[in-house]
Amino acid sequence: MSQDGAAKRGEGGEIIIRPAASGDAQRMWEIDQICFDPGIAYPIDFIYYHLLVLRDPAFCVWDGETIVGFVLTSLEKPAEGCIVTLDILDPYRRRGLGGRLIGMAERALADRGARKIVLQAAVENERAMAFYGKHGYVRGRLLKNYYGKKKDAWQYHKLPNK
Ligand SMILES: CC(C)(COP(=O)(O)OP(=O)(O)OC[C@H]1O[C@@H](n2cnc3c(N)ncnc32)[C@H](O)[C@@H]1OP(=O)(O)O)[C@@H](O)C(=O)NCCC(=O)NCCS
Repeated sequence: MSQDGAAKRGEGGEIIIRPAASGDAQRMWEIDQICFDPGIAYPIDFIYYHLLVLRDPAFCVWDGETIVGFVLTSLEKPAEGCIVTLDILDPYRRRGLGGRLIGMAERALADRGARKIVLQAAVENERAMAFYGKHGYVRGRLLKNYYGKKKDAWQYHKLPNK
């Protein structure tokens, strides 16, 4: 069992959350492709870069032998962390797994010195807006064409220690 412990049984086995390893990148990419439209989903090189080169904190949700969700972060400015993406496969949503992942991501970023956490969400992603609002994120400015032409995003931020 990981230090974060088992949560409950899923469809295929025990649900656990553990730090992402380089061997997880392919599956993380597959999940991101499922969760987001092609214009928003990240290329696999991007995921490898964050995991292997930058060694940014990332965590995966496992159901038995299968990854069913993950969070990827970055710390590109000294005191500012970023939730790069947070993806839970549809059958596993509304079980609190996204909430557990973002909590772990925030703690990992804070341990690395982040005093502020930022993220972006597509303006039509109402589910994400509800989720981040519940977790204390404050909506900021509109980022025009952030995901491509006419694909705007909202900037969100949170000061975890406040
Ligand atoms: C957004 C996402 C990560 C939420 O993950 P999750 O595991 O379902 O989230 P949780 O179960 O921890 O939900 C926590 C709270 O968020 C809010 N929330 C989550 N999904 C919601 C939905 N579909 N509609 C309204 N509120 C929602 C609720 O307040 C929920 O609490 P509740 O279940 O007690 O009402 C997940 O839906 C997902 O992966 N979506 C596709 C990818 C995406 O959009 N990622 C976020 C943008 S980077």
